[in-house]
Amino acid sequence: MIDHEPGEQTSSANVSWQQTRVGKVERARNLDQWPMILWLTGLSGAGKSTIADRLEQEIQGFGKHTYLLDGDNLRHGLNSNLGFNLEDRMENVRRAAETAKLMVDAGLIVIVALISPLRSQRDAARALVAEREFIEIFVDAPLDVCEARDPKGLYAMARRGEIPDFTGIDSPYEAPLEPEVRVDTSELSVKEAVARILDWLGKHAPRLESPASEVETAAAEPE
Ligand code: ADX
Repeated sequence: MIDHEPGEQTSSANVSWQQTRVGKVERARNLDQWPMILWLTGLSGAGKSTIADRLEQEIQGFGKHTYLLDGDNLRHGLNSNLGFNLEDRMENVRRAAETAKLMVDAGLIVIVALISPLRSQRDAARALVAEREFIEIFVDAPLDVCEARDPKGLYAMARRGEIPDFTGIDSPYEAPLEPEVRVDTSELSVKEAVARILDWLGKHAPRLESPASEVETAAAEPE
């Protein structure tokens, strides 16, 4: 895990990490929750954004503090200068992951919905936070199902050769090998998929509902 002294990570010369008095534990304690990243990956049209939106609504309903980083929305601002070749996607996912890490440091439960097509990208995102703070959720649907849905008409455009580097058509998607949660949206409704994720969190991440005192104890545990 890369923790509070990512000095070796910087490519800027003569920059040292400044330790702060208030850290993640203090912020999380005040918010009375356990910060984490719920990282949704999957093909375009698999249902990531819809599930992420409903999931956030449910977690908000528990009185928790959340933020949703959606790929399409990030590409309107922070990532508006990036396209879809693999190099740009690497940077797109890297920025989203670093932003999510900052939000975890702020004590938030962060939901990320990005195609994030490569395993190496998702592994790099996972490595930014503590093990228990990263939950990979594979929003799975076969390519032909996503293509038949084609909510934005993008698959049809890609097939006509009007969009280069389209994920699943002429750009790779590497399915997660061991995601914490997998929801098959060709079989489950949005409501069922969200329920399955919440069920998993309830069983394996009780900290979602943990009192802040437990946040402190567990955060202090050695990695
Ligand atoms: S990622 O691969 O870099 O993680 P991201 O999640 O930010 O992708 O953006 C995906 C969204 O961009 C899709 O939902 C789709 O609406 C749109 N899009 C536009 N061009 C492409 C493309 N070539 N491949 C995939 N998605 C595309």
